[in-house]
Amino acid sequence: MNTTSAIVLFLLVISGLIWAGVQSNDPSWSGNTNQCKGECYDNWKAENGGGIAEIERSKQAALAAASPSALGEAYYGQCVACHGGNGEGGIGPKLQGQPDSDIVMKLNAYRAGEERGAQSAMMWPVAKSMADADINNLAAYISTL
Ligand code: HEC
Repeated sequence: MNTTSAIVLFLLVISGLIWAGVQSNDPSWSGNTNQCKGECYDNWKAENGGGIAEIERSKQAALAAASPSALGEAYYGQCVACHGGNGEGGIGPKLQGQPDSDIVMKLNAYRAGEERGAQSAMMWPVAKSMADADINNLAAYISTL
């Protein structure tokens, strides 16, 4: 078989597949459009405690009401790999048993790009994105470990 007939054969097969595909299209198929509206959406709202905006509002309210230590605990998820689930240390030093004023002072230093120990470079990117509130919340949580 020469190249030209191979190409012709290839094109024939492809057009055949496209034709077969078009013939078997199901007009009722609705793709990814969300079909949950009307009664379906009312049921969803009843099951989930309101519409999307209401759920978001109650989440925000819960977050605002959470204690600093609970917020710190949530943030601490980013620290576990290096400092251990209970602050017992690992790649990074032990945090357990440190008073919150120490944690605040140390995190502020890393956030400012200051060098403390030999491995401070590992903490700079971690602390860089912390807000003051994050530092206070983390300290509140870590001092309970
Ligand atoms: C990639 C590993 C890594 C991650 C993730 C990490 N740390 Fe560290 N951390 C270190 C290392 C290494 C040091 C020691 C740095 C030095 O030599 O100054 C350190 C030091 C610290 C210190 C100072 C400890 C001391 O007594 O001198 C505090 C406080 C701290 N980290 C808090 C945190 C918090 C809070 C998080 C999470 C938001 C976090 N770290 C995430 C590796 C990490």
